[in-house]
Amino acid sequence: MLDRKARQAGERVAPGIFGNRIIDLARQLGQHSELPDALMCTYFSQVHKAVAVQLRDWMRAAGLSAEIDAVGNVVGRHSGAAGATKSLLVGSHYDTVANAGLFDGRLGILTGLVVADHLNRIGRQLPFHLDIVAFSEEEGVRFSAPYLGSGAIAGRFDESTLARRDQNNVSLATVLRKEGVDLAAIRALARPPETLRGYLEVHIEQGPVLLERDLPVGIVTSIVGSARFRVTVEGVAGHAGTVPMSLRRDAAAAAAEIVLAVERRCFAAADLVGTVGQLAVPHGLINVIPGRCELSLDLRSSDDVTREAAISDIRAEIEQIAKRRRVTAVITELSHHLAAPCAQSMQSALAEAIARAAVEPFFLPSGAGHDGEMFAGITDIGMLFVRCGNGGISHSPLETVTAEDADLAARILLDVLVNLN
Ligand code: HGY
Ligand code: MN
Ligand code: MN
Repeated sequence: MLDRKARQAGERVAPGIFGNRIIDLARQLGQHSELPDALMCTYFSQVHKAVAVQLRDWMRAAGLSAEIDAVGNVVGRHSGAAGATKSLLVGSHYDTVANAGLFDGRLGILTGLVVADHLNRIGRQLPFHLDIVAFSEEEGVRFSAPYLGSGAIAGRFDESTLARRDQNNVSLATVLRKEGVDLAAIRALARPPETLRGYLEVHIEQGPVLLERDLPVGIVTSIVGSARFRVTVEGVAGHAGTVPMSLRRDAAAAAAEIVLAVERRCFAAADLVGTVGQLAVPHGLINVIPGRCELSLDLRSSDDVTREAAISDIRAEIEQIAKRRRVTAVITELSHHLAAPCAQSMQSALAEAIARAAVEPFFLPSGAGHDGEMFAGITDIGMLFVRCGNGGISHSPLETVTAEDADLAARILLDVLVNLN
């Protein structure tokens, strides 16, 4: 079971207390939504701001000195013992996709929160500052700018995203300016690497592997590398009844061929996935040949060479399809992140804590992207996956975690923290 230090830290917490609290807080956060009958919380909406305030207040109630920073991250500090100079970042994101589940991102924030609250209650200080961080924008739903919050703290904020516009044609720069935020304020958020002890994130697996192996938790070995693009196909609109098939320059038909080309290419390699999640004919009408079609492209592999080869092959194939169909296809890169290995030291610390909790340490890669990849190469990153119920489904209201598994994850996190020096 837990070692002496961990027992001291965790012994006065009855089993289930952490887990029940995490589930309850996740449900409370889920009450804040931009949709009447589903969960959606996107960057700097009124809902997003309400969630940030709620998290800040919970952090303060847990004894943390907590503030909301210039880009909406909520950062709460459990100060380290005298002489502490570095910070360990523990957290995840509070923004969500549309029609989201309660736990993607939020599980990691709330697990850190309840553990920090406990450390505060027992008066336990660590040899480093413990910063619980609720990142403001990981999914990139509103401005196609994933990892905006974590990128700012990591000093990797992509300034080109300031020009990105949301579906109301409002730019990120305008939204931030209205909040009184300028580039200097964003750059000031960057943590000098030498001030970081490391980064730890608890996250739902968002897949079926732990569920199928009947394991409550797993240690992440690496975070997948991903690239996201927008493809705009321009053909010629025309009358659906009068233009012969041989004379058409149909943008949607070209897009359909691109979708199948992506699928074919990604089937061709083991560790490669490709998704066209958005496909639209703007102002399309039933009796008009589509003159324009917009689609998204999300390509991932944990092997950078595999992913980069697929990207260049797919670019070439899009060009051929466009040429053959006498349409144009403009590919705009939205984000591009290399695969991020988790630090061996963090993987071992997690594995030892899991073993002390009498659970089999199991290692697995992450097919989802996470805020942790912003800190790879800057500090030691580690991730603990928690079993996802309902077949492992995520980015869906069917996303579920048990209180028992959440409780175990909190105890493992606590054990890692009190044994880290
Ligand atoms: O897309 C992802 O992998 C993550 O959910 N942002
Ligand atoms: Mn997600
Ligand atoms: Mn997530």
